[in-house]
Amino acid sequence: MPKVAVIGATGAVGDVFLRVAEQREFPIDELKLLATARSAGKQLQFRGESITVEETSEAAVAAADVVFCSATASASLQWGPVVRAAGGVMIDDGSAYRMETNVPLVVPEVNGDDLEWHEGIVSIPNCTTTPMVLALHAMKSVATPVRVTAATYQAVTGSGTAAAEELRVQTEAIGRGEAVPAPEVYPQQIALNVLPHVDDFADDGYTKEELKMRNETRKILHQPDLPVATTCVRVPTFVGHAEAVHAEFDRPVDLGALHDALAAQDGIVIGEGPEDYATPLDSEGNDLTHVGRLRVDPTVPDGRGVVFWCVSDNLRKGAATNAIQIAEELIARDLLKRSS
Ligand SMILES: NC(=O)c1ccc[n+]([C@@H]2O[C@H](COP(=O)([O-])OP(=O)(O)OC[C@H]3O[C@@H](n4cnc5c(N)ncnc54)[C@H](OP(=O)(O)O)[C@@H]3O)[C@@H](O)[C@H]2O)c1
Repeated sequence: MPKVAVIGATGAVGDVFLRVAEQREFPIDELKLLATARSAGKQLQFRGESITVEETSEAAVAAADVVFCSATASASLQWGPVVRAAGGVMIDDGSAYRMETNVPLVVPEVNGDDLEWHEGIVSIPNCTTTPMVLALHAMKSVATPVRVTAATYQAVTGSGTAAAEELRVQTEAIGRGEAVPAPEVYPQQIALNVLPHVDDFADDGYTKEELKMRNETRKILHQPDLPVATTCVRVPTFVGHAEAVHAEFDRPVDLGALHDALAAQDGIVIGEGPEDYATPLDSEGNDLTHVGRLRVDPTVPDGRGVVFWCVSDNLRKGAATNAIQIAEELIARDLLKRSS
């Protein structure tokens, strides 16, 4: 049973992490809940016990066999080398290490074998990448994707607890007929609005979120040249990221064969017929990627293209559940560097 530390235990992902670890009965010998000095002394509940949150420290991080980090890029960069040097494994939810060549970027159902070459840090993908790569991976048993485009509809909890509070406060002000308070998390009002602006802009006009989807999809699918272009959009929902994906394949594809491949994939549930689609509300609180509205893309010649809709809970499969699944896989493969 590993000693476990959670950096960012008081955040949106940290909170869900504790609930998912309880539900999955993840084995824990000793649990440290860590955050900043702001949260030190707070009490969090886990398996019926109250645990005091501590300020993240070298001693706490170095003593853990597994460190789950759901905080900030700078926290990951500060504590990753400490975990490595101490012989533990950090499972990092953030973007700091995802594209490092010696850091596996893992969705266990897709590329769990990449865990074999970890050197003390494993990254989980961005919460928009995960559902799309899971669906594309399933479809790869029928044909290889050669071009992917997507538009996303991303919930505010993807930006953490402060963003969820911003949507709540703005929505309530609108409901009372009052002036909407100025936004602090997002560049513009999010209530009753949509923002084609997730993360900062890069030099080429794409946002960093859109580049994450491109680069991470390539790394996880082991297709380093796969053309991927996306538009990431923040919408005023609380939980569940939805995506409209257009995929072009290397050969004509049969919708029935793709449907069966998706249905056979662990972690996916596929709708039966056009009206059997899932919404973000349907995804909230479960670990499934819901795929639906699978249809032919008539803009791609020779029947090589399809369009589909997918949605999953960004805090669970998009973050906490994927991180815990990685830890379970590391234990099953005896890949924890040090085991208590
Ligand atoms: N939200 C999602 O859907 C999602 C999905 C995939 C990945 N992620 C990634 O997960 C991470 C956390 O996201 P979140 O949504 O949970 O954010 P959040 O709600 O803003 O929570 C941030 C957490 O990190 C802690 N923290 C901040 N700076 C720290 C530092 N220097 N040292 C230690 N702890 C620190 C905060 O502690 P205090 O309470 O003390 O401030 C808080 O517990 C981010 O890297 C994000 O990109 C999020």
